[in-house]
Amino acid sequence: MQRFEGRVVVITGGGSGIGLATARRLASEGAKVVIADVDEGAGKAAADEVEGEFVATDVTSESQVEALFQTTVDRFGSVDVAFNNAGISPPEDDSILTTGLEAWKKVQEVNLTSVYLCCKYAIPHMLRQGKGSIVNTASFVAVLGAATSQISYTASKGGVLSMTRELGVQFAREGIRVNALCPGPVNTPLLRELFAKDPERAARRLVHVPMGRFAEPTEIAAAVAFLASDDASFITASQFLVDGGISGAYVTPL
Ligand SMILES: NC(=O)c1ccc[n+]([C@@H]2O[C@H](COP(=O)([O-])OP(=O)(O)OC[C@H]3O[C@@H](n4cnc5c(N)ncnc54)[C@H](O)[C@@H]3O)[C@@H](O)[C@H]2O)c1
Repeated sequence: MQRFEGRVVVITGGGSGIGLATARRLASEGAKVVIADVDEGAGKAAADEVEGEFVATDVTSESQVEALFQTTVDRFGSVDVAFNNAGISPPEDDSILTTGLEAWKKVQEVNLTSVYLCCKYAIPHMLRQGKGSIVNTASFVAVLGAATSQISYTASKGGVLSMTRELGVQFAREGIRVNALCPGPVNTPLLRELFAKDPERAARRLVHVPMGRFAEPTEIAAAVAFLASDDASFITASQFLVDGGISGAYVTPL
């Protein structure tokens, strides 16, 4: 499949995890990939690997996000896909009883304000082009509550989901699709390290997953490739769950 031949894709947080897997997948389908990441080493390595371009970007900075999309258009002529994916999940964001205002604000800035900024500065280019596809990374925690709370993270992802729905509706007749990707827990280095140290924490979560395992980053990348491509031409304003069945489950198989 070469669904992204001649298309220009911007991926925030493309230096690691889901963003990196998606960069690889979309490049393999012909995309010119622009990696935007605050981690210059990882971002540059990812861009080199997929023969793309690296633009050092802190997604919480309005001027840097504006420059990211302008630079992309100046250099490659268009921005066909924006995968607004950078996000954090720091340990100081925990129960509402212990999470301080600074930790709350930091997560809101990186996870939610960043998506507002990326959409704000990608959409005018897409309006000029008369087409475009935006995929914003939310999470399964935007639709399910957890007793193992990360209160600001959950609230930020709920915000991403609602904002995405509204943008999808607002720009539906202008050729711009806007969808929210809601991954279940993904097998990333961070998660592996956490659960290797504490198998009980892993078991507590896995019992809720009908498939009995976490997702691989490549499985999330495959869903992004679909959503971003013309194969999803009638899909917009959606909450696209890629969660191994968690959100549909009451009792899971033994
Ligand atoms: N891993 C999971 O289980 C999971 C589940 C659901 C949703 N998500 C979401 O998926 C997205 C990607 O997560 P991941 O697991 O691949 O994480 P990751 O930590 O592997 O990658 C995130 C990338 O974002 C970059 N980043 C962080 N802050 C930034 C900033 N201010 N500006 C620019 N780049 C920044 C990091 O440098 C890193 O390269 C996040 O939004 C996360 O909330 C992850």
